[in-house]
Amino acid sequence: MKALSQADIFVKNAAKTVDTLYYPKFHVAAEAGWINDPNGLIYINGYYHFFFQHYPYEPVWGPMHWGHVISKDLVHWEHLPIALYPDEDYDRDGCYSGSAVNNNGVLTLIYTGNVNLDDKGNIRQVQCMATSTDGINFTKHGPVLFPPAGVMHFRDPKVWRARDSWWMVVGARVNDLGETRLYKSANLTDWTFVTILDQATSSDQGFMWECPDFFNVNNKDILITSPQGMPASGYDYRNLFQSGYRCGVWNEDGSYTVEEEFKEIDHGHDFYAPQSFVAADGRRIMVGWMQMWEAPIPTEKQGWAGAFTLPREVKYNEHGRLLCTPITELEQLRTASTSLQPFKITNQSTVLDAQYQELKLCFDIKNSTAERYGLSVGDGAKLFIDSQAKRLVLERYSDDLTLNTDRSIPLPVCSKINLHIFIDAGSIEVFVNDGEASITSNIFPRFDNKALSFFAENGSAVITKADMWQLSSIFANC
Ligand code: FRU
Repeated sequence: MKALSQADIFVKNAAKTVDTLYYPKFHVAAEAGWINDPNGLIYINGYYHFFFQHYPYEPVWGPMHWGHVISKDLVHWEHLPIALYPDEDYDRDGCYSGSAVNNNGVLTLIYTGNVNLDDKGNIRQVQCMATSTDGINFTKHGPVLFPPAGVMHFRDPKVWRARDSWWMVVGARVNDLGETRLYKSANLTDWTFVTILDQATSSDQGFMWECPDFFNVNNKDILITSPQGMPASGYDYRNLFQSGYRCGVWNEDGSYTVEEEFKEIDHGHDFYAPQSFVAADGRRIMVGWMQMWEAPIPTEKQGWAGAFTLPREVKYNEHGRLLCTPITELEQLRTASTSLQPFKITNQSTVLDAQYQELKLCFDIKNSTAERYGLSVGDGAKLFIDSQAKRLVLERYSDDLTLNTDRSIPLPVCSKINLHIFIDAGSIEVFVNDGEASITSNIFPRFDNKALSFFAENGSAVITKADMWQLSSIFANC
């Protein structure tokens, strides 16, 4: 085992004073302090490892470390000591985001070393390598890839093995347009530039594409990016930054032919910088940061900030949609359950008998007449079908009016809508019709007003299925 550092001890002590009002029961989060992007997600030597962008000393973004948790089953997690510190010349202002690969049993991290050159925003970003043979202690090997001439923003390497080579996609900002650059290597240390997989052609596609990911699923090559600087458009792109996917074909010469243009992955308030990895049985799993840059974070005052989304299995369907569904392993968390017979509520609100955390609901759209009907989460949020606007809406409420906004998706064109919902202490994730859409948002119900209730306004709502579970914790010591 690794000796705990000052930073680890600081986090353990700070954890004792965390206010747990919104602290997650079944989402990965730091014990205290700040986290952002998921990094280095991998299954290797019998364990799942998740790392995260971490500032241990305060619940605000600061010089980035890599926090670390492990799991044998992708459900129950254990905190490990911090894996990477910003302590070398080439990463002294932050070990920024990156990925992990299995190099003959050696856990190998490729991440961005960030250096602030002055206080005017000039930076140097290089891709660096660190390795571990025991999965706990890491040795840094320094930079392996430098930015193209004149490019400052060059970060978030995602590395994978295919076609008998190592490949790396890196996000870059070139002339204030985002792009994803592809590199190739035989040994993980010498990299050659292959091509630009895709790039923004106008400023409304983003000035920087962060956290790229590139993988094949259901015989389609999916390019994930997190663009900064896309303006809101109607109901879309409402958050400061977006995360989305393109679909196409990765050609033999390394180039990428885009067939389906950018679509948002999730439609909630808090989903950013997702990264994917391959599970032990070959499934493609994705995890995002359940937070948004520059949004107010009420939990900062409570000693922690940031969590991951639930792991989601990713598929691609014949209608050109990335499907994201919560991994089935999460069923292990289920404890007490209730199933309600099909029922109808009319002009009423019905409080549920317990605080369920997982709900599978089916609303009969065709036979419901209410103008708005759905589920309330105390005084923090309402998830409802708006039958006039024909949208599924998540409205959230907070004393901070900047948080007091809604997110919504068009109602699917069918007579019923299936919702698979996870409600943690301070978040809600809604998966619609087997993952065709999802809405992920942090919510802030007051402690004495968290109860769940079904409601129907000005008419009736028909609920044909309601299976609900309480869930246990993913961390043994909680
Ligand atoms: C995305 C991001 C990355 C960067 C990291 C820094 O959220 O800005 O581009 O590597 O966070 O913490």
